[in-house]
Amino acid sequence: MEIIHFSAECYPVAKVGGLGDVVGALPKYQNKIGHTAKVVMPAYDNKFLNENEFEGVYEGWVEMGTGNYQVRIIREKSNKLGFDLYLVHIPGLLDRPKVYGYDNDTERFLAFQMAALDWIHQWQHKPDVIHCHDYHTGLIPFMVSNCPRFWRLNSVLTAFTIHNAQYQGQFGWDKLHLLPIFDLRNSGKLEWDKAINPLASAIKCAWKISTVSPSYMEEVSYSANGLESLLQRERGKSHGILNGIDNDVWDPATDNMLAKNYNLKNFEAGKKANKQALCNIFGLDVNKPLYTFIGRLVGEKGADLLPQIFDNVMRQSEGALNILVLGSGEKHVEDQLEQLKDRYKGIYNTYIGYNEQLSHQMYAGADFLLMPSRVEPCGLNQMYALRYGTIPIVRRIGGLKDTVIDVGDGGFGFCHEQATVPDVEHAIGRAFHLYQNPKAIKEIRKRIMTLDHSWDKSAQDYINFYQI
Ligand code: ADP
Ligand code: GLC
Repeated sequence: MEIIHFSAECYPVAKVGGLGDVVGALPKYQNKIGHTAKVVMPAYDNKFLNENEFEGVYEGWVEMGTGNYQVRIIREKSNKLGFDLYLVHIPGLLDRPKVYGYDNDTERFLAFQMAALDWIHQWQHKPDVIHCHDYHTGLIPFMVSNCPRFWRLNSVLTAFTIHNAQYQGQFGWDKLHLLPIFDLRNSGKLEWDKAINPLASAIKCAWKISTVSPSYMEEVSYSANGLESLLQRERGKSHGILNGIDNDVWDPATDNMLAKNYNLKNFEAGKKANKQALCNIFGLDVNKPLYTFIGRLVGEKGADLLPQIFDNVMRQSEGALNILVLGSGEKHVEDQLEQLKDRYKGIYNTYIGYNEQLSHQMYAGADFLLMPSRVEPCGLNQMYALRYGTIPIVRRIGGLKDTVIDVGDGGFGFCHEQATVPDVEHAIGRAFHLYQNPKAIKEIRKRIMTLDHSWDKSAQDYINFYQI
């Protein structure tokens, strides 16, 4: 099958979170099992664009109601990613350093979707599947089946993956003129709650819908930021497919971002060396268990609970553990986490910001990884932690529920029911207790490093999903 993935993110080109990881890996694994999967994404003004070689494949203009923008589509030449990568260059709109967060994001992503479809529309052949990810590409299923401008793609199967239903990209009807012409009797397919809602439109118009874990598929029918009834209605064409991880990128035996590589045979020494390296950088105590958090500092991740939790456990344990936080997000959470640094010098530290290498180093050097998420459609961090022999402490929700089994149930992690301060503290305490038993810790580490969360299985599940 020929599958074209449309996304705003794709590792290593541009990554803000897990969406980037998924789109940087799934196509590669689809190609490995004999299909032709490609990725089309915006060309941002970033390192990847400036440091790699490209060839032009298309030049044109995208008409967007109010005006025309010049478009150039380029293909990455090295073929080292495991899939063909196409970047849509639209000067004046997409060529910004960040992926999201601009006032004209609606126009930026609309132009991207239309320009990419214009290009595919003029191919001599049709792809089998157009697979769109999250709301930034959510209007494609509507445009393909309703806009005469793309009539040749009308019969192409569209699949849409919901990575996170919290973000929907709504905008007002006053921007309708930006879309290509269509029969206005179909405008209901764009609408949800009196606005144009790209996520809702994708759920209505795509042939197939998936969420990034089976549990999240169940959860969105009662918690999806207002789209619950729509998702219940479209349940028949929807499937939950668990994300995988890219075992080539996330392998402690070969990961060149680590202080020391390790495998199943020498993981104790390997993890210790990585922990030591982290403790040296952040002034922590290598003899105490190291608890970490990596991620967006937002309510969805339960990050606002962390300052209180950390303060409590540090006081209660009289500083018997270490904590290291890597993340950025809501300012008040960042500030509160920073403020604890003075109080717990030598056992607590933070890195506020984004740092890919440090994240790898932390998955390798940590003893435990915390994920007290309120919402977690899948979560990749826990799977990276497992592969690196780090024990996850997670809220039992979404993809966390599908990937982590509690030690009390014969499993290998610590699960808590609610995203609350007492529940997380209790789980931290249970982990601390286990840490006192080095033999048990060693057995669990060995076990989790052999769990297989690679994309091999789910890449095939997606192929089946397109076909059923
Ligand atoms: P989400 O996409 O909701 O943020 P995921 O668990 O799916 O959550 O994926 C998060 C990805 O982003 C992981 O690869 C994680 O390591 C990475 N990440 C998150 N925050 C940071 C950060 N501050 N620095 C480096 N990597 C980060
Ligand atoms: C979203 C979700 C996260 C998921 C990721 C990749 O960002 O918040 O849970 O792992 O997408 O699918």
